[in-house]
Amino acid sequence: MKKVYIERLKTGVEGFDPLIKGGIPRGFFVAVVGEPGAGKTIFSIHFVAEGIREGDKNIYITTEESKESIIRQAAMFGFDFERAIDERRLVIIDALMGGRDDPWSLQELTVESLVNKVIEAKRYLGYGRARLVIDSMSAFWLDKPAMARKYSYYVKRILYRWDFTALLISQYAVTTSLGFGFGIEHVADGIIRFRKSIVRGELRRYVIIEKMRQTEHSLKMHEIEIKDGIGMRVVGETKYRREDTALPPSVTARMLASEIQKLLEIPDSEDEHSHA
Ligand SMILES: Nc1ncnc2c1ncn2[C@@H]1O[C@H](COP(=O)(O)OP(=O)(O)O)[C@@H](O)[C@H]1O
Ligand SMILES: [Mg+2]
Repeated sequence: MKKVYIERLKTGVEGFDPLIKGGIPRGFFVAVVGEPGAGKTIFSIHFVAEGIREGDKNIYITTEESKESIIRQAAMFGFDFERAIDERRLVIIDALMGGRDDPWSLQELTVESLVNKVIEAKRYLGYGRARLVIDSMSAFWLDKPAMARKYSYYVKRILYRWDFTALLISQYAVTTSLGFGFGIEHVADGIIRFRKSIVRGELRRYVIIEKMRQTEHSLKMHEIEIKDGIGMRVVGETKYRREDTALPPSVTARMLASEIQKLLEIPDSEDEHSHA
């Protein structure tokens, strides 16, 4: 068989890259999903820190924390994001707290303004291999869950030409997990899922690669750990036990009922909210 060479970008998370044959293929759009506190942002911070180390251009869009919060979180693991910004190796686009005086703030939470800002940032950083993190995509369809798939497709289609390897973060949603057909998973080249559970009174975190095109990836759930001063690392394989990660059936049923309710209430006009 002919050997196919694929350029892969290291994530910078110790123990993770071997699970995906060395890294994420260049140009891929990878969905990073999981509940709050599962480790999505910290994983993305490592990905960008590795990009800075390797001389890539890096863009981080933050919708759920301020730019300062991301910089502080990175500093806790020894990554100097402030310096990377000064050296034109990183742009953090603040869609949450960014004021009018911040040229990299996002004044409007729409996918169009997001895409335009990302292109502007890429032009500013210059040619070359680039890493992009959108933390999170969920913010752009909070009030329109049915638009998730269409928006994700739009983002990928436009940004594809700009030499990005991207992490698109999404909060865990019952709709996507039950296969309603919405969400970024459908347009993603890869899916990395973070999970958490409480085992004997202690919070544990896990990661599993659910999809990675062109890659013979690990199919096992792995336990991860986050340590002050160090960051995230993969500890090792873990036995999947449904009771560790599943919600009780009654909770799932209630969430499902409310999701169906939401779907029934979705306005058919996209402009519905712009007059508010
Ligand atoms: N300096 C640190 N040392 C140890 N653990 C940390 C540190 N900073 C954050 N954490 C852990 O990481 C969690 C946040 O992870 P994060 O990646 O932000 O989650 P999310 O999936 O919501 O993006 C915190 O709840 C905490 O448990
Ligand atoms: Mg986060």
